[in-house]
Amino acid sequence: EATAGLEGRLPLKMVHGVPLLELISDNWKQVEQFQARPDDLLIATYPKAGTTWMQEIVDLIENGGDLEKARRAPTHIRFPFLEMTYPPPVPSGVDILIATPSPRVIKTHLPFQLVPKSFLVQNCKMIYVARNPKDNVVSYFYFDQMNKMQPEPGPWEEYLQKFMDGNLSWGSWYEHVRGYWDAKKKHRILYTFYEDMKRDPTGEIQKVMEFLEVDLAPDVLQKIVHYTSFKAMKENPMANYSTIPKNIFDVSCGKFMRKGEVGDWKNHFTVSQNEAFDEDYQHKMAGTTLTFQMEM
Ligand code: A3P
Repeated sequence: EATAGLEGRLPLKMVHGVPLLELISDNWKQVEQFQARPDDLLIATYPKAGTTWMQEIVDLIENGGDLEKARRAPTHIRFPFLEMTYPPPVPSGVDILIATPSPRVIKTHLPFQLVPKSFLVQNCKMIYVARNPKDNVVSYFYFDQMNKMQPEPGPWEEYLQKFMDGNLSWGSWYEHVRGYWDAKKKHRILYTFYEDMKRDPTGEIQKVMEFLEVDLAPDVLQKIVHYTSFKAMKENPMANYSTIPKNIFDVSCGKFMRKGEVGDWKNHFTVSQNEAFDEDYQHKMAGTTLTFQMEM
């Protein structure tokens, strides 16, 4: 049982200046020394940016649009979570990956500077999904209420400040999105945006297909667009995280497939929070060409 020994919310502990769940930090050596293989694909995101959505897209592309194949197991089994660590004897993400045959598709929330060096040495492909920070923090706020491994989110006002200060689990959103943006100049990274996937799923899925060097007929592509819609994934038990035990994801505190929209932040930010956020954002994002769509 993947939850044995877990007794509620975990504190954060720094790894090279990035706050991570203590279980991960305490196992950092194993993560750092992870041996990537050349045909590994890494799906990297800041938490709540659209990881699960991209995972489903990639899996369907690699299975030629065959939904039954993509429904062979829940998301967290199909895509081992690189840095995730549980109390022994439960295998860590790295333990699972060592035993996983190639080609492996690996999930991570690590910022680029903490990605194990072997991924760069092996020149592995990476897909990054970025989401506008306002929707990202709202989604994370709800998630931290239901995910009983994460630190207590506390009230919204304080949570927003922690996000701006880079004090949430996996650290600063600003450094995260900028890190991969800069890294894509040198490495094989497909950098995608949640908002683009909402606006033009066909075009974005096509980009992923090209990056993966998979050619599928237009009708198969349209099937994938359909199967990876919010509505379809919300109803798909193999894609909606409904199989996670209640002591980890407490579904009485909310659903994993919550809203799936662009601009929901407007229902949460006050006018003054929004002004303070925008001002701080200008400083933290100064000097980058990276831009976000905050609404559609
Ligand atoms: P909301 O909380 O805003 O609804 P992650 O997979 O990185 O944890 O991200 C989860 C967020 O992506 C949640 O956002 C979830 O609803 C949304 N999401 C998941 N699948 C989606 C889809 N097919 N279309 C749009 N949003 C999706």
